[in-house]
Amino acid sequence: MKKRREAHHAPSRARILPAENPQRNTRGGYDFASVQVDLREPWRIGPVEVPTRVVLAPMAGVSVQAFRRQGRRFGAGLVCSEMVSCAGLHHGNERTLGYLRIASDEHPLAVQIFGSDPPVMAEAARMVEAAGADLVDINFGCPVRKVTKTGAGATLLEDPDRACRIVGAVAQAVSVPVSVKMRRGLEDGSRACLEVGPRLVQAGASTLTLHPRSARQMYTGSADHSLTAELVERVEVPVIASGDIVSRAKAQSVLAATGAAAVMVGRGAQGNPWAVREIVDGDAGDPTREEVVAELILFVRETVRELGERRATGFLKKFYGWYLGRGRFPRPLKQELVLCSTPAEVERRLLAAAPGAAELLERLEEELPHGDEVTLDLPISIYGGG
Ligand SMILES: Cc1cc2nc3c(=O)[nH]c(=O)nc-3n(C[C@H](O)[C@H](O)[C@H](O)COP(=O)(O)O)c2cc1C
Repeated sequence: MKKRREAHHAPSRARILPAENPQRNTRGGYDFASVQVDLREPWRIGPVEVPTRVVLAPMAGVSVQAFRRQGRRFGAGLVCSEMVSCAGLHHGNERTLGYLRIASDEHPLAVQIFGSDPPVMAEAARMVEAAGADLVDINFGCPVRKVTKTGAGATLLEDPDRACRIVGAVAQAVSVPVSVKMRRGLEDGSRACLEVGPRLVQAGASTLTLHPRSARQMYTGSADHSLTAELVERVEVPVIASGDIVSRAKAQSVLAATGAAAVMVGRGAQGNPWAVREIVDGDAGDPTREEVVAELILFVRETVRELGERRATGFLKKFYGWYLGRGRFPRPLKQELVLCSTPAEVERRLLAAAPGAAELLERLEEELPHGDEVTLDLPISIYGGG
């Protein structure tokens, strides 16, 4: 056990500061609810050094390059693409290939693939590696029927032999580490992840992420991180805990109680990079209206560059509520933005609502790396726009 923790620099008990009265409560004599884990402590997945213990979750329809770069700026140690169809890559689908566009300031970055056929997954993994990803992540967690009915995503937790063949084929195909993200199982109360997880490690997975809800649960109820703790005990690789991490207090209690190497933040970071900063650094100040508007405009600009104006216009609508909600702006502003037909109009309205944001935005733009050195040098035609 000790050897494992040293190998990936998980938050060893020595690095956890015991509570004032360490004899209160629970495992090992520590009060896990109040121990402090250093979230700025680097850790490793094989050769990849991850600078903090916060990972930005892969989220379909959310984890565009702008989201990932922003996550890195606010302190996420590792960011992930949304799930990418291995069949789409195999067929050279333009939009799917666009997901392989990686910026130079995103690293370390995992690109996640999904599918059910080991050779096709291996081919996709080679493309992901060639595109410059630091890790290939495999999706064994997607609960959506469109995906599960093809034998991919969470269904693979019920077909461990095939799941292992996929991981084995992918690990053989690439030299970067391979990670797997999974749910607890298909049905409520399932413990499939605890049986499958160690086998996936044997097959070649260098890290496992567990979102301990069942596929049936979708996003209801709560993530049962007692399973994360059990998984940590059963495998010799770092485990990432995903599910309901929305604050530094929650992150620290989950890390301490489970022995996981890192936490993953998903919905809590939607329109709210400040939550990532709060989790990593404990900097709990609410952003000013100017900061919110500057970040949102930057996000709009980058997304337009990545997806093209037409696609970005629809894609961005859900982000307006995420950024402007939480009591930051009166509701009508969101409605106005959703009705805007161009990103330029969105920008104008946002700046009218917080004129001081212009200067902040200029500063932000100056600090960011720009142009060709940022994006991968692939012919623009394969991106399907932008
Ligand atoms: C909109 C949305 C899209 C998601 N897409 C993916 C995905 O593409 N791949 C994946 O492994 N998980 C996906 N997830 C699951 C998240 O990565 C994460 O495990 C889950 O939301 C629990 O974490 P949270 O409570 O911090 O949101 C998605 C979640 C949401 C809300």
